[in-house]
Parts: sequence; structure tokens; C-alpha cells
Amino acid sequence: MSELVRIENLKVYYPVRSGFFNRITDNIKAVDDVSFTIEAGQTYGLVGESGSGKTTIGKSLVGLENPTSGKILFEGQEVTQIKQKKAINYNKDVQMVFQDSQSSLNPRKTIGEIIAEPLKSFGVPNKIGAGYGGERSFEQSKVDERVLELLDIVGLPARTISQYPFQFSGGQRQRIGVARALATNPRLIVADEPVSALDLSVQAQVLNFMKKIQRDYAISFLFISHDLGVVKYMTNNIAIMHNGRFVELGTTEDIFNDASHIYTKRLLSAIPSLDVSQREAKRVYRKKVEAEFTQHQDTYYQQDGKRLRAYDLQQVTKTHFVALENGGV
Ligand SMILES: Nc1ncnc2c1ncn2[C@@H]1O[C@H](COP(=O)(O)OP(=O)(O)O)[C@@H](O)[C@H]1O
Ligand SMILES: [Mg+2]
Repeated sequence: MSELVRIENLKVYYPVRSGFFNRITDNIKAVDDVSFTIEAGQTYGLVGESGSGKTTIGKSLVGLENPTSGKILFEGQEVTQIKQKKAINYNKDVQMVFQDSQSSLNPRKTIGEIIAEPLKSFGVPNKIGAGYGGERSFEQSKVDERVLELLDIVGLPARTISQYPFQFSGGQRQRIGVARALATNPRLIVADEPVSALDLSVQAQVLNFMKKIQRDYAISFLFISHDLGVVKYMTNNIAIMHNGRFVELGTTEDIFNDASHIYTKRLLSAIPSLDVSQREAKRVYRKKVEAEFTQHQDTYYQQDGKRLRAYDLQQVTKTHFVALENGGV
């Protein structure tokens, strides 16, 4: 395995201004000192409740936000700030798919135009797949050909090329978003809650086809979700995030079989059980976790103003890290 992206001690603070002079009086610590590594071809899950800082990490990674401090390395090269990313055409390598495809797809453009956009800026690579470089063509006929190919990959018929976003369902629009993201042969796709706005039945379809794309083209994914259940079948590694901090980090097995932080246990207990006979047991477990969360907060968090702040991560096995005071001993 080789390292694709490394994030080191990333902090993203948003200033809070107040008073007559509109001075900066405080900071919202959206992301507060997180580090992790995404390996080439792997899917990394980033999970936490709304407001925990997941989107801010995604935006810093693709270049929609400048970090306050810390480092982002892409194949060893520093791309922390937006200007460093621009200097190396980084956005052909790292693309984002948004939760809200309604607002991320231009309503006045046809599907063909939307997917062609990145092809026109970066050229049409000679082959589809993560990072295939070489010659890129800017010929219109190549662009048209590739748009049709991309529509086919995401399971949309060729005639959709001349249609507009409003003519599609949420699930179909997510497919269009993925086709656009795929167009530049990215090494990494950041998928920010890509199925959260979809009906359960459609969620499974979209997850399956994203998984297939990930496998077929060896693309790495940073898969963001508030729902641990959704990432279970997608990811190799997972980071659990709360109030801008990582509370637990490990392989998908570490998280699902050996969760150690109370916040991870809370997220696990919130996954609905499909098995009716398990529902009562699940309800009892949920109550137990809730009680532990309120009674033993000091074990898991420091106070930072009114906010709970997770301890630094401590290593418990080769792959598993938990934010406990002194590693929980
Ligand atoms: N542009 C911004 N200005 C000020 N605060 C922001 C901005 N973007 C996000 N935040 C705040 O940062 C925190 C993390 O937000 P976000 O990354 O969107 O979380 P998530 O994606 O996990 O829901 C939240 O408290 C949010 O209100
Ligand atoms: Mg978000």
C-alpha cells in the first residue's frame, strides 16, 4: 500500500466577530488538530454528528477552505493552501461529490455541459481510471465521447446528455455528480454525505454503484457520513469525529467489533436494527450507553468552555487509536 494523502495536525478555525468594532472575539474550532492518512485505492470513512467538522475537513482537502494550521500532503507534496493546490492542477486529482446535488449542479446547464466542464479545463485523459495521465485531448469529439462513456459508467442512458438537472431524481443527480467527479481521472473523491438526502431504497443502489466504481477504477474515497451503518460496507478505515476532534480511529473491524470511546458506542447504538427480535436488546443497550455517556464524561472529555473536547488519541493496537486520558489506563 502506498500513501496518497496525509493530513497532519489540521486546524480550521472560524473567527467569531462581535461588538461595536466587529472585532474577533472568539474562534469556532471546526477542526481542531486532526491527523490521518488515506492509502491509494482505499476508502476512508469520516463519521460524526452534524456540526462535528466533517465537511470542513472535506473542503480543506479539495481546496474550498484554507486551513488555519497543519499540513496536507498529496503524494508527499505539500498542498495545504489553496494557492499550492492551484500550482499543481491538484483538482484534476482530488474531486468532491456533495450531499446536496440540487444546489451543486448548475440548473441552467445540461447534463452534458455539466460533465464536460472538468474535461474542458483539464483535457480528456486517454483512459478512465485513477490517475491515468499521459496525453490529454481538448478536441470536442473526444469530450463528447467521454461524456457518453461516463454516463454509461454511472448507469444513465445516453439521451440524458441534453436534459437538465431538475428532470432527475435525487439518486440520479448523485450519479451525475459522480460522473462529473470521475471525469478528470481523480486519485481521490471526497464524497460528503452522498446518500443522506436519499430514500433508504435508493441509498443502497447509490452506495453499491459507488463501491463498484471505487473497485473498477482503483479510486480512493473519503466517505463522509453521520451514519456509521452507511459506511460499514464501504470503508477500510474509519475516523470518528466529535466537536472538531477525532475520538477514535481504526480499521472498520476495530470500530465495529472493538469500539472503545463512548461517542463511538453512541453512534453504534444509534444504527437501527433490521432484525425485529433484536430491537428490545438494542433499546436496552442504547439506554446503557446513554447513561454511561452522561455519568462518565470526565473519562472521555475535557471541558473546553461549554464544549466537550476529546483527549488526544492514544494508540491501543497497531491500527486502533482512542481518545482517552492516559490511554484509558
Ligand atoms: N464558513 C463558516 N463560518 C463559520 N462557522 C462555520 C463555517 N463552516 C462551518 N462552520 C462551523 O464549523 C463547525 C463544523 O461544521 P461542518 O464542518 O459543516 O460540520 P459537519 O459537516 O460535521 O456537519 C460547525 O459548528 C459549523 O457551524
Ligand atoms: Mg457536513
